[in-house]
Amino acid sequence: MTEYSIDELRIPRAVGAAGWDDFVEMTRVRNEIEAATVGTPELGLPAEELLPRWIDAHDPRRLFLARVDGRIVGRGTYEFAPEPRDPVGWLTVEVLPEFRRRGIGSALFDAMEQVARRDGRTVYQSGFFSRTNLPGRKIMSPTGFGSVPAKDDGVRFALAHGFALQQVERASRLALPVDPAVLGANRARAEAAAGPDYRVLRWEGRTPHDRRGDLARMRNRMATDAPYGQLDIREEEWTADRVRDQDDLEELSPRIMLTSTIEYIPTGRLVAFNELSVPPETTRPVSQRDTLVLREHRGNRLGMLLKVDNIQALTDTHPGHPAITTGNAEENRYMLDVNEAVGFVAMAYESAWKKVV
Ligand SMILES: CC(C)(COP(=O)(O)OP(=O)(O)OC[C@H]1O[C@@H](n2cnc3c(N)ncnc32)[C@H](O)[C@@H]1OP(=O)(O)O)[C@@H](O)C(=O)NCCC(=O)NCCS
Repeated sequence: MTEYSIDELRIPRAVGAAGWDDFVEMTRVRNEIEAATVGTPELGLPAEELLPRWIDAHDPRRLFLARVDGRIVGRGTYEFAPEPRDPVGWLTVEVLPEFRRRGIGSALFDAMEQVARRDGRTVYQSGFFSRTNLPGRKIMSPTGFGSVPAKDDGVRFALAHGFALQQVERASRLALPVDPAVLGANRARAEAAAGPDYRVLRWEGRTPHDRRGDLARMRNRMATDAPYGQLDIREEEWTADRVRDQDDLEELSPRIMLTSTIEYIPTGRLVAFNELSVPPETTRPVSQRDTLVLREHRGNRLGMLLKVDNIQALTDTHPGHPAITTGNAEENRYMLDVNEAVGFVAMAYESAWKKVV
C-alpha cells in the first residue's frame, strides 16, 4: 500500500506569492501527465501562463493535490459556476503514470466529489485527453463522431466512476510556416464569398475600449453557438467590464493575444472573432483560442477569412513558432473543414464525460 495524503492548495494570488512553489511543482506534474498521454510535451504550459485561469473570479476553481513523501504525484481540479444554484461541477483527476492503480485517483475524486456535493452540485462533467494509439475496442461518441479507446486509463477510470461519454474533440496541429499560396488562395475565396458588407479588424493585446461591448456580446454566445453534444454548458454573462477584467488577467501572463475580428459594416458591430495566443519563446507552438461566427452571419466564409487573417498576422508580427495547435468538436465539420484546408492535422483526442447524481 502506498501512503499518500490529499490537501487543497491555496492558489497563489500572483507569481511568487504564498503557495507559488507548490503551484510550480503542480504545473510540472500536470505537464508530465499530459505529455505522457498526448505523446508530446508541446501542449505544456509554464506556471506563469497557467496562473491567470486559476485566479479568475468569474470562473472559480479549486485545486487538490495528492502527495507521496511530500512530493506531488497527482492533482484534482474542481471547476464550478459562481452562481450557487448552478448544478454543474467539472471534476478532473490526474495521477503520474508510475503512481497509478493504487487508489490515488479515486481518493482525489472522492475528496472533490464530497466538496461538490456539499456545494449542491448534482451534474459532474469531466474532460481529458486519451491515448490515441491503443489497440482494441473503441467507445463511440453518442454524437456519432469520434471515439475513445476502451483501454485508456482515463476512460477506464471515468467508466468505473459512473461517467458516460458525451463528446469527442480533436486536437490538431498546423506546422508553420504555411505556404503563402495556400493562405492567399483561401483568403481570396473567402473574401469573394463574404462580399463588401464585411471587413476585417485586428488588434494585439488588449481589446480596444470601443469594442469591449461587441466582444462581450460574442462571448455570451460561445455557450449556445458552438456544438457541445448533451453536455451542460452554462451561458456565461459577459459584459464590457468582464472583457476588461479578462484583458487584465491575460496581461499577468507573458503570452500575447492576437485577435482578428469581422465587422458587419451595415451595423458597425463585430460579428466574428478569432484569437491566437502566442507564447514568448519561439520554440513553442502558438495556441488557437476562441473562434466564433455569430449564427446569423454563418455561411459567408467568415470563419476561413478570420483563420487566414490571423495566421497572416502571426507570420508578420511573431514569426518563427513551430506550429499552431487547436481543438474542435469532432462533429464541428465546418470548423474542421476550415482547419484542414489550411493544413491542420489531428494530433490527439480529448473527450468529455458526464455523470448525474
Ligand atoms: C485516470 C487516472 C487519474 C486514474 O488514477 P489512478 O490513481 O490510477 O486511479 P485509481 O487507482 O483510483 O483507479 C480507480 C479505478 O479506475 C479504473 N482504472 C483506472 N485505470 C485503469 C486501467 N489502466 N485499467 C483498468 N482499470 C483502470 C479501475 O476500475 C480502478 O480501480 P481498481 O484499480 O480497483 O481496478 C490516471 O490514470 C490518469 O492520471 N490518467 C490521465 C489523466 C486522465 O485521463 N484523467 C481522467 C480522469 S478525470
